[in-house]
Amino acid sequence: MLSPNLDSIRVFLHILAAGIWVGGQIVVAGVVPALRKSSGSEGTKALANGFARVAWPAFALALITGMWALVDRDGDSSSEYGLTFGIKFLFYIAAGASAIAHARSSRRPVIAATGALGLVFSLIVMYLGALLANG
Ligand code: HEM
Repeated sequence: MLSPNLDSIRVFLHILAAGIWVGGQIVVAGVVPALRKSSGSEGTKALANGFARVAWPAFALALITGMWALVDRDGDSSSEYGLTFGIKFLFYIAAGASAIAHARSSRRPVIAATGALGLVFSLIVMYLGALLANG
């Protein structure tokens, strides 16, 4: 068997954070309609608060382990790699900003739009991560 090493722990933590942040949003979006029917807005509020308690630490863990990956990267980075990373980072900020706007708004259309945008931005961040891992 391959030996565990620090690199694999870093990748494991980054993927774990990504899975919680992105996968969690998809699961919450899938559960909310049924929950709203059975428990109304009280139920959806409790779910949103519970998810936020888990998702924001994951968002921060993605940043820490992502920086770690950059620092650890050996060899010279191509400008394509740098540009891909820059775009990924902008989408990361946009995903976080959308999630904050989503949580703070009380207007239904704004909540829906920022929620959908936040998920799309997060999926783009995830795909760009896969590109970086191959670059
Ligand atoms: C929630 C936000 C994020 C998601 C969903 C995400 C997702 C991913 C995924 C799925 C990978 C491929 C995993 C691998 O095989 O290494 C990856 C790689 C990477 N991510 Fe992220 N990421 C996020 C945030 C960040 C941030 C904030 C940074 C930098 C500050 C970052 C930097 C990187 C780097 C440099 C790689 C390549 C790692 C390698 O070559 O091993 N990521 N990301």
